[in-house]
Amino acid sequence: MDARPLLNRRLEGLGTTIFAEMSALATATGSINLGQGFPDTDGPREIAEAAARAVLDGHGNQYPPGPGIPELRTAVAEHQQRFHGLAYDPDTEVLVTAGATEAIAAALLALLEPGDEVIAFEPFYDSYAACIAMAGAVRVPLTLRAPSFRPDLDELRALITPRTRLLLINTPHNPTGTVLTPEELAAIAALAVEHDLLVVADEVYEHLVYTGAHHPIAALPGMRERTVSISSAGKTFSFTGWKVGWVTASPDLVAAVRTAKQYLTYVSAGPFQYAVAEALRLPDAYFDTLRADLLRKRDLLADGLAAAGFRVFNPEGTYFVTTDITPLGEKDGLEFCRSLPARCGVVAIPNVVFYDDTEAGRSLVRFAFCKRDDVLAEAAARLQRL
Ligand SMILES: Cc1ncc(COP(=O)(O)O)c(C=O)c1O
Repeated sequence: MDARPLLNRRLEGLGTTIFAEMSALATATGSINLGQGFPDTDGPREIAEAAARAVLDGHGNQYPPGPGIPELRTAVAEHQQRFHGLAYDPDTEVLVTAGATEAIAAALLALLEPGDEVIAFEPFYDSYAACIAMAGAVRVPLTLRAPSFRPDLDELRALITPRTRLLLINTPHNPTGTVLTPEELAAIAALAVEHDLLVVADEVYEHLVYTGAHHPIAALPGMRERTVSISSAGKTFSFTGWKVGWVTASPDLVAAVRTAKQYLTYVSAGPFQYAVAEALRLPDAYFDTLRADLLRKRDLLADGLAAAGFRVFNPEGTYFVTTDITPLGEKDGLEFCRSLPARCGVVAIPNVVFYDDTEAGRSLVRFAFCKRDDVLAEAAARLQRL
């Protein structure tokens, strides 16, 4: 073999995700894993039964339709109407994907040309950098800075160039927990309209908002025809392994994203699509209880972290609480997270890996609170040893 690297240069540096490294450390040390964002309790029993029934009754065991089963597309459209007042045609404006992850990949691969610039908030959800790179596009970070983690809208305006094609927004935002306000969304929308930009909105935490409310940018004037909204069942129904996600957008945008999607996975998990269609129709009480439970967990962990000496940035939404380790006499989040399992049997994620501007994220560490109360209490007790 010649000396040419096997991995193509667009993916250079994107080798192993921090989650793989930290989850392996958690297993090796028997630590409590507050790294990756998945619940340690499954979602509703009746929805799991719906999936099992679909398998046994032969629903979705063979390739489902490429855009997703009609029942799920209809349920997604109803859900957008019920919670956000947005009307989408299930036949032309909804696309089912293999989780939000595939929706993000398909949207970016479909909508970007090599050299296009994509403005995204950093810290980034890790697949954004990889998908922008696979599309041959250029990521342009808008840094969310502690302590407020609010986007600086003047800075956003200044980042827009003639090469800017797309704004990739994520609200509620992983890992900072920032939920964009109606004013921030209106300002972002106005810039998108003024500069004729596309918007991809990752809204997977739409139901996990503790302060304020989730507002989809697609609802704002001039935005429906330029926005690809993305969500998924993983976080809302506590079945992150099912990987059922969806896109809602205008017919032209859905057709573009579908073109890329059909050559990525073609279709995703048939029987789970039937179950998620039922889940989306659960009564309001389900969504209210999910939020109330996670709010209690957030407070449980945030109080424990504060008592252990961390500076805690209370998240407005998501599964995650970001902390600063400086008050503990620590500076480097990556080193800290690598040593934390041995020091006290807890695994966390260093936010620095989600930043291009590594100074902005150096001392920040993220903990997931989507875990059983007793697990969070034990983690808090262990962290007191620091
Ligand atoms: C911001 C964000 N987007 C997308 C995803 C992926 O969603 P899915 O599991 O549906 O692919 C996650 C999962 O952690 C996330 O945090």
